[in-house]
Amino acid sequence: MAEQFLWGAATSAHQIEGSNIHNDWWEAEQQGKVPFKSGRATDHWNRWRLDYALAKELGHTAHRLSLEWSRIEPEPGKWNQRALTQYREMLTELKRLGMRTFVTLHHFTNPRWFSARGGWASAAAPEIFARYVKIVAEQLGEHVDFWITINEPNVYAGQAFWLGTWPPRQRSRWAAWQVLRRMMRAHRAAYRVLHRVQPDAQVGIAHNVLAFPERSLKAWLYNHYFLWGTRRAHDFLGINYYRSVNRNWVGPVSDIGWEIDPGGLQRVLRDLHQYGWPIYITENGLADAEDTQRADFIVSHLRILEEAQRTGIDIRGYLHWSLLDNFEWDKGFSPRFGLVAVDYETLERRPRRSAYVYKAIIEQARGV
Ligand code: FCB
Repeated sequence: MAEQFLWGAATSAHQIEGSNIHNDWWEAEQQGKVPFKSGRATDHWNRWRLDYALAKELGHTAHRLSLEWSRIEPEPGKWNQRALTQYREMLTELKRLGMRTFVTLHHFTNPRWFSARGGWASAAAPEIFARYVKIVAEQLGEHVDFWITINEPNVYAGQAFWLGTWPPRQRSRWAAWQVLRRMMRAHRAAYRVLHRVQPDAQVGIAHNVLAFPERSLKAWLYNHYFLWGTRRAHDFLGINYYRSVNRNWVGPVSDIGWEIDPGGLQRVLRDLHQYGWPIYITENGLADAEDTQRADFIVSHLRILEEAQRTGIDIRGYLHWSLLDNFEWDKGFSPRFGLVAVDYETLERRPRRSAYVYKAIIEQARGV
């Protein structure tokens, strides 16, 4: 892998920070509308220095975090300067440690007031989102190397508006489609705003892909529709890859039953590099509490990236999901996705063996 290739891990605010009391997930947790409460999560909001020091110690050269919109704009048009200041400190610290920063502007959660006004189903959503993006770009932009406007629009629309498992728990195909269209519009608006504030900004999304067994309308809708609808508004393509879709799968699975299939990543890369954007793997990982499969998982997926690069596919970085064990949405705290284990009683952090395997790979690739 090339020298400038970026290595690191990805996280998201609600899953690790703790006490995000101003967002719609928290509200749903209090109302018993989702099965688990995030509570203090990993208390990352107070322990980020330690966590970043760990990432550095583990050899990472990049880090992906998300900004919690509801901390920054707890009421419409009211900007919480303390939250912005803390995020600035966090980003500055990452840069000081020599890491490149990937900043996600929306990772599943919304300010409560935004949801109360119809959330992503509302026609006003793109404009409201773009206003928040502008403030963030102006205040934090200088510390951001890569912007990810929206994490997994397809997953969000599907879970929250079609399957109805996530807030606001709607069950309507029409609504899900509508939300996807609003998110396309919001992404395009954010893309313009970011480039206006920062002419050389690098902007993309983190796109969840599934490796389908064959070409089909379903596969196109899931893997391509959003990209196609925003095709003039990406400087890079962020890919979140976890699993393939295969009813007759007899291969290995993770703790939560997801197929471990690096070959699927190869198919997806061949299919998506046609857009011509440089690719970053913005998430890839597995739930593995005993850490018996994670090291092999990392190695096998990195091999696929290396092979793909040899065939001319421009892949520039790998961010493992996740740095820490965390709050896995409607599955709660039991799935263990972390390179670093978290003891939820003591909040102690302990890197797993696989974190050191990953570190050795990074060091070897960088010639350190
Ligand atoms: C992805 C999400 C991330 C995490 C992983 C396991 O779909 O982006 O927040 O939940 O799955």
